[in-house]
Amino acid sequence: MQDFEGRVAVITGGASGVGFGQAQVFGRLGCRIAIIDVRRDALDEAAARLADEGIDVYAVPLDIRDRDAWVRAVDEIEAHFADTVSLLFNTAGVNGFGPLDAATYADFDWVLGVNLGGVVNGIQTVLPRMIRAGRGGHIVSVASMAGFEGSPVAGIYAASKAAVITLMESYALSLGAHGIGVSVLCPASVRTDIAHALERRPDDLADGSSFRDDPGFVAAQQRLYEGGMDPVELAEHVRHAIEHDLLHVLPFIETREGLRRHQERILAAYDDYRTDPAAAAERLRAFDRYRTESGRLRAAEPHPATH
Ligand code: NAI
Repeated sequence: MQDFEGRVAVITGGASGVGFGQAQVFGRLGCRIAIIDVRRDALDEAAARLADEGIDVYAVPLDIRDRDAWVRAVDEIEAHFADTVSLLFNTAGVNGFGPLDAATYADFDWVLGVNLGGVVNGIQTVLPRMIRAGRGGHIVSVASMAGFEGSPVAGIYAASKAAVITLMESYALSLGAHGIGVSVLCPASVRTDIAHALERRPDDLADGSSFRDDPGFVAAQQRLYEGGMDPVELAEHVRHAIEHDLLHVLPFIETREGLRRHQERILAAYDDYRTDPAAAAERLRAFDRYRTESGRLRAAEPHPATH
């Protein structure tokens, strides 16, 4: 996708950090920007800053875990701009660090609910409208380099981001026929407010947490992210991905060697087992037959979103 002028872009987490950088970059390209965030004050402040730059911006408070509120929010955005959504940025996310063996259900529900559930809800709300509008578009979800490897202290976060990566890979395999591009952004460290994510934890999931919130730890985290990439620079990489229809957005070159080593460790696991090559070849033939057959069946069916 190359024509950003006048397109409506919805950006979750748009009040801060990565999402705010996306609002600036795509707003400057002429998109009409809807920023969504759970923090109303921060949202209003962000909208005012974007408007000062001359960006056509509309702000909608929303907890992205809330499916009904998503429908109302997108109805409101489409009515405001008198147009359908062409770009969806699932950017809002939260993190907490603590020992995984002390994690509570509330920890899981919060991090998975926002980081994975929020992405699912955004796509479930916007994608059918994009398909019906028939004008193409692009969906970007923000995962993390953390989604490629487990972590003893951010295991829930890593699981949520791993799910976002494979979900977006799956959408990329599914949406080509509709002219809708898909990208998954995997940042390492970005200069944002994410060290303060625990302050966004909702009251309904406040009880019992394994996540560290002592001021010394939060301050150390803050210093780490202060050394990260600028959100505007990151959003320019996302623009490049959209313009060239690239799925994996991996602009943090310093993580390349670690990812390669991790993938090699996974591949090396095959060597731990003695297997029968003839049986493997037979399984492959069964897969090939299944692919051919299921492809034939799929081609004969109407698509539910267009009928
Ligand atoms: P941030 O904390 O500056 O911005 C996140 C925004 O999401 C905040 O404005 C927050 O109010 C909003 N938010 C939180 N829960 C929400 C909910 N339930 N509904 C709606 N909005 C909600 O953090 P940052 O860094 O900009 O985070 C953006 C994305 O980037 C996240 O998905 C994060 O996991 C990802 N990321 C960030 C990295 C970094 O180093 N900052 C590294 C890797 C990934």
